[in-house]
Amino acid sequence: MDRRTLLLGGLAALGAGALSGCSREGSAATGARHILRLALNQTETHPSYIALDAFSKSLFEATGGEYTIDIFPNEVLGAQQEILNLQRNNIVDLAIISSTQLENINEDFRVFNVPRVFDSVAHQMDVITNPEISGELFGSLEASNNLLVLGGFTQGERNIYAAKEVATPADMAGLKVRVQESPVMLRMIEAMGGSPTPMAYGEVYTALQAGVLDGAENNEVSYFTQKHYEVAPVFSYTKHLVGFDYMVASAKSLHDMGPEMRAVFDEEWGKAMQHFTELWATSTQEAIEGAKAGGATFAEIDTAEFDAQLTPLAESLLTSDVQKRIFQQTKEAAA
Ligand code: GCU
Repeated sequence: MDRRTLLLGGLAALGAGALSGCSREGSAATGARHILRLALNQTETHPSYIALDAFSKSLFEATGGEYTIDIFPNEVLGAQQEILNLQRNNIVDLAIISSTQLENINEDFRVFNVPRVFDSVAHQMDVITNPEISGELFGSLEASNNLLVLGGFTQGERNIYAAKEVATPADMAGLKVRVQESPVMLRMIEAMGGSPTPMAYGEVYTALQAGVLDGAENNEVSYFTQKHYEVAPVFSYTKHLVGFDYMVASAKSLHDMGPEMRAVFDEEWGKAMQHFTELWATSTQEAIEGAKAGGATFAEIDTAEFDAQLTPLAESLLTSDVQKRIFQQTKEAAA
């Protein structure tokens, strides 16, 4: 049995309490009476982990020792799609899930995944934290999937990296580029001229190394913390998407907290989102320096030829009334 199977078997057994309606007990090790399990696919050096670790401690303090969070980093509980299933069944309480994954459950989430929907991280955070724009969407998975979206963390601008510079769609021809597992991400790389290959995050390094992939797309922080620069040393600023990571909660786990504890949780979580946004800018700089020291180069390019493909693509991908309304509100929020 591998480590993940063992871990999940153990969690499922412990989670039976939560499934039958009793709350999950904390342990002497943490000192908290209740433990929320959080799944993350990043390393302990990624700013998500750092902000979540601080959130766990502040939650413990603010709830007078009632609640803490146990973070499982490095995709140890599974890739994001698998984690959503564990959350539906209350085996995992909280998870950081890339926004592209939720589109596979409710297509309206696509509105925040289309190229160029956000102008900047500040614009994105304004929209995500504005309940008039995103509130209904974020509550839309509760009845059907036991999932609640609680805002989250920016992924910053995503860009292409490979063994060579990518400055135009012609440079993308024949390039096998890893994408997150969503139809929009496939369409986006096709529109940019490449051949998309969907794959879970944790498999990308090995696939680049083995030549199964020629490139991938992500932000500088993932490029550095996942060590992708070692196997794809040229990072080209295509700036095709400002991505987002949702904090997804198992709805039952949150309801079980009761209104008083839930209010404290929400307040501390709001502070954690701000903390992350502050960390993001410095982490990005550090990632650039670190990757350069490891031999990577960063290429600023003229994105005009990509823009000409991506702008009409974004419009063609928005088909439902909900998507169109949220898109319009998002654009108005930038003005
Ligand atoms: C970023 C993001 C992750 C996502 C990953 C990916 O690192 O923060 O949530 O899984 O990109 O490309 O899969």
